[in-house]
Amino acid sequence: MVKIFLNGCCGRMGKAIADLCYHNAEYQIVAGGDIVTNDSLYFPVYTSLNECTEDFDVIIDFSNAKAVPAILEFALSRKKPFICCTTALSDETVASILEASEKIAVFKSANMSLGINMMVELCKKATKILYPEFDIEIVEAHHNRKLDAPSGTAMMIASAIDQEISDNVEYVYDRHSVNKARSKNEIGISSIRGGNIVGEHSAMFISDEEILTISHSAQTRDVFAKGALTAAKFMSGKEKGYYTMSDVIAQYTGE
Ligand SMILES: NC(=O)c1ccc[n+]([C@@H]2O[C@H](COP(=O)([O-])OP(=O)(O)OC[C@H]3O[C@@H](n4cnc5c(N)ncnc54)[C@H](O)[C@@H]3O)[C@@H](O)[C@H]2O)c1
Repeated sequence: MVKIFLNGCCGRMGKAIADLCYHNAEYQIVAGGDIVTNDSLYFPVYTSLNECTEDFDVIIDFSNAKAVPAILEFALSRKKPFICCTTALSDETVASILEASEKIAVFKSANMSLGINMMVELCKKATKILYPEFDIEIVEAHHNRKLDAPSGTAMMIASAIDQEISDNVEYVYDRHSVNKARSKNEIGISSIRGGNIVGEHSAMFISDEEILTISHSAQTRDVFAKGALTAAKFMSGKEKGYYTMSDVIAQYTGE
């Protein structure tokens, strides 16, 4: 059984993880941290991390970018693996997470879905083989309340593809403003917004004769919660180092 300290436990993702663990004997949330409390949770919630006396194997954090330095300090002081799922971190926080990996095990991913991370690996392979003959375009779709475009995940896919291409890659978000044909080293990125779409991402590899589409469709927020729990099992017992979802996937592929 993996014993978890859950930071940001009163939020949407915290609640999704708490619900999944409630009926799962493989995981136990021993305590949580948040700036608010919630009496309906089945574990103690600390608004001050230093008051936590429970022992645990890993910390999962789905809170707020401003909260990450304090929870990272807590992980260092308790010498426990730290799984950072919170996004929009400052460069300074990202650097301190990297630095902490010399003392404790840390895990960071902007998208905890195993499926999306598998998609990224497949896109890297496809790019290695199909570029430059095939043009590459990414299309993403999200609900009508999403503020940012393109999604952070679309950018994560683009960046992984970019790393496989030695050319000077150009991201093209808007074909409306320029009247010119597509160049070879472009990755076109298009966004769709509407209704209640949880998250759809497609990478299209397009030649004159055929189209390969690698796509992922998130159905609920539970995909991120489940990915975080998979990461918790993977990180339990690790002493130090920097890990991502690629390391989790490598377990299955043996690469
Ligand atoms: N990596 C992924 O796959 C993934 C998926 C979904 C969300 N996220 C990210 O996870 C974070 C949380 O998402 P959410 O949808 O649950 O948000 P949310 O706003 O519903 O919940 C955040 C929780 O953190 C708490 N919090 C705020 N400041 C805190 C602090 N200083 N210490 C402890 N807790 C604090 C809030 O009170 C709230 O309960 C966001 O950064 C979001 O972008 C990442």
